[in-house]
Amino acid sequence: MRIVGTGSYLPETKLSNDDLSQLVDTNDEWIATRTGIRSRHVVTDENTSDLAVGAARVAMADAGIAAATIDLLVVATSTPDVFIPGVAHQVLKGLGISQAMVFDVNAACTGFVYALDVAVSLMQAHGYRHALVIGAEVMSKIVDWNDRNTCVLFGDGAGAVVLEQAEMSGVLYRSCTAIPDRDDVLLSGGVAVNNPVYAVAQGDFFLDMKGQDVFKFAVRVVGESVHAALSETGMSVEDVDYYVLHQANRRILEYVAKKLKVPVEKFYSTIADTGNTSAASIPITLDRMKREGLLVRGMKVMLVGFGAGLTYGAMLIEW
Ligand code: UT7
Repeated sequence: MRIVGTGSYLPETKLSNDDLSQLVDTNDEWIATRTGIRSRHVVTDENTSDLAVGAARVAMADAGIAAATIDLLVVATSTPDVFIPGVAHQVLKGLGISQAMVFDVNAACTGFVYALDVAVSLMQAHGYRHALVIGAEVMSKIVDWNDRNTCVLFGDGAGAVVLEQAEMSGVLYRSCTAIPDRDDVLLSGGVAVNNPVYAVAQGDFFLDMKGQDVFKFAVRVVGESVHAALSETGMSVEDVDYYVLHQANRRILEYVAKKLKVPVEKFYSTIADTGNTSAASIPITLDRMKREGLLVRGMKVMLVGFGAGLTYGAMLIEW
């Protein structure tokens, strides 16, 4: 299994930190120094499936393959357009694919790593030739634009990769897991039960995060995940060319780099102009690295996701 194409798609409209300071009591200095974020993209007339289709088209063009050769399509998202059908089914239609195995994965910000793990297993099990794995989110739908603790952090966007069946496996290690969120450190609302025998008042959909608790969880599990991957593959921290982490906060990347004693340049970051795009952040980052010519065949790239659930997961790939 190899990644043979990458793509990303960000909606055109951008909100700067200064723009947000018109909405809530915040400022560019606080946001930039605490998170590394300068601006984020937000949708106007598009939804999650539109972003996913945009990223998928770029990834397929990059791979040089036609939509008809896609056997499997997995979309990682926590912000689908609608409950039914899934975003993956809308992408199937949007790309004009006549038939494929398609479904959504919701593992919050770890979603892309989960989706990749599942796609690799299904490709092995069924002998599929090509899979499209997409992370797509419209976080702006579930952000409370009056809450400065969260609204400055998130952005909308999508990233995609094309996986191709190959004799030599480019997947050296993979592990996805979750632990209970006992203290409700990262949640959003949902649709309340409302049926003829029972009804609950409809609450809001907004994200609620205990930032410092999530920060501590993130740096702990990223460190553990990296060490587990290295020990299982017999590699050292230096053997890894790039660490591509979920882009939640630039300080998380800096903290982990310092702990691992790895130059922070090996932790490529896209957060400055995307914000936290949840399941889309890792494929968006991969796509930008590819376009900058940083990813060369044979390089070792460690993907690590973490987020609500509480989920986390890592994959070590040979590019
Ligand atoms: O993708 C899912 C995973 N998510 C994460 O990994 C996020 C992890 N957490 C974080 O990245 C950080 O904890 C945050 C960026 C969310 C917050 O940074 P922090 O350094 O932990 O700040 P804090 O929450 O401790 O807040 C410090 C102060 C507070 O004021 P007081 O109580 O000290 O007076 C906040 O009210 O900063 C205040 N504050 C703000 N000030 C200006 C919080 N948000 C803002 C804001 N602008 N936007």
